[in-house]
Amino acid sequence: MAPRTNGIGVQVENTRICVVMVGLPARGKSYIAQKAQRYLAWLSIPAATFNVGNYRRTDAPQPSADFFEPNNPEGERKRRAAAEAAVADMLRWFKKGGVVGILDATNSTKERRKWVLDLMTQNNIEVIFVESKCDDENMIMANIRDVKTTSPDYQGQDPETAALDFRNRIRNYEKVYKSLNQDGDEEDLTFLKIMNVGKQVIINRIRDYLQSRIVYYLMNLHIRPRTVWLSRHGESMLNLEGRIGGDAELSHRGEEYARKLPELVRESVGSDRPLTVWTSTLKRTIATARHLPKHYNQLQWKALDELDAGVCDGMTYQEIADMYPDDFQARDEDKYNYRYRGGESYRDVVIRLEPIIMELERSEDILIISHQAVIRCIYAYFMQKPQEESPWVPVPLHTLIKLTPRAYGTDVQTYKANIQAVSTWRGKGSTAKHEDPSPEKSLFQTH
Ligand code: ATP
Ligand code: F6P
Repeated sequence: MAPRTNGIGVQVENTRICVVMVGLPARGKSYIAQKAQRYLAWLSIPAATFNVGNYRRTDAPQPSADFFEPNNPEGERKRRAAAEAAVADMLRWFKKGGVVGILDATNSTKERRKWVLDLMTQNNIEVIFVESKCDDENMIMANIRDVKTTSPDYQGQDPETAALDFRNRIRNYEKVYKSLNQDGDEEDLTFLKIMNVGKQVIINRIRDYLQSRIVYYLMNLHIRPRTVWLSRHGESMLNLEGRIGGDAELSHRGEEYARKLPELVRESVGSDRPLTVWTSTLKRTIATARHLPKHYNQLQWKALDELDAGVCDGMTYQEIADMYPDDFQARDEDKYNYRYRGGESYRDVVIRLEPIIMELERSEDILIISHQAVIRCIYAYFMQKPQEESPWVPVPLHTLIKLTPRAYGTDVQTYKANIQAVSTWRGKGSTAKHEDPSPEKSLFQTH
């Protein structure tokens, strides 16, 4: 049998990885775990997170700090049972085809880490430990205020009392916590240690390609506030005719959008702070960026070019249905995986967008001016859209989309330029030009 491969072309037939989070409470472990899961799932690598806190809550829904005192036998027993239940579920999930399982817990003692390592090794599962270490008191307090006082552990409680209790919970963990390889006897482990949100990182014994992809992604994360803006190019001459692909000029209305874009961006940014602008290498996105302020850095990426429609480039959907009826139907049945003859699929586009996502994670404010299919793929990464849905997301012309990543999700706002444009959205089974995606309009909340 040919080896099973995934989005980034890794042979995953035998690779199964358990990512074991390590660190004191409020160090961003769940944040890191969720980002890793979203990134891997976007690349079609089956990934799941097992949060031990969720398992513990079935037996101890709102424990006070004393529960986490190392000498509390009742607490110790329940915490161990929760870890065992999470790991048992993870092993069952691996048996059903899981590739990267993330164990989201403090795993703050050497004993606990050895227990997970032994169990995974017996099951032929590789282990990477990922520790977040942070001694910035202000950041820890901010994390407690932002996410801990609103956690189900403190539901209905006064936030000040909750924050104090959480601080005491951390003190109890500190009594037994050992950082990875702190005593020099864990040097055989595969690990990534991230100190103070990436100011320093230690990488130890990373072994294969998939491990290194995960580590490289996690090394590039930051938590400074930032926004990503997405816009399609202004309406093009080929859009007017309902033809796909090509490298056409903007229509009159498309030009009008290009002139309006600086104002729309200013309204959305809320200040004169400069942005970096990324376009594709095609005329219509470069022309759309043309009137943006000169002090904005601009960069053209081939990776942002529209999905290549191969032999269908320049055709209308009706012409494709007439000339290649089987292909037309196959695309509707599985739009994510269908690859145009001599061209690309949405899956191919995601693969070539991986460096864009990596660069976006490293950057702060970026405005991307690109194309319908490419924007759908970037949107799917931020919004965790499943593959069956992402190729059908309506991304209207002459609309600026603002994505603001938060601790556990992304906020979306849209800004309409109020300049008419044709619709290039097409519903399943249809060949109609300029169809109206009315039922799906509510996907974006318009500003
Ligand atoms: P617990 O052990 O209680 O589950 P946790 O370590 O999982 O805590 P999170 O719930 O992930 O902590 O905390 C989320 C907060 O951590 C967010 O506000 C996020 O901005 C912040 N954060 C993300 N990454 C880091 C990091 N590397 N270091 C410190 N804080 C971070
Ligand atoms: O019609 C505009 C366009 O950007 C085409 O160039 C591209 O082929 C198409 O949209 C992608 O949308 P879909 O995947 O829905 O055909």
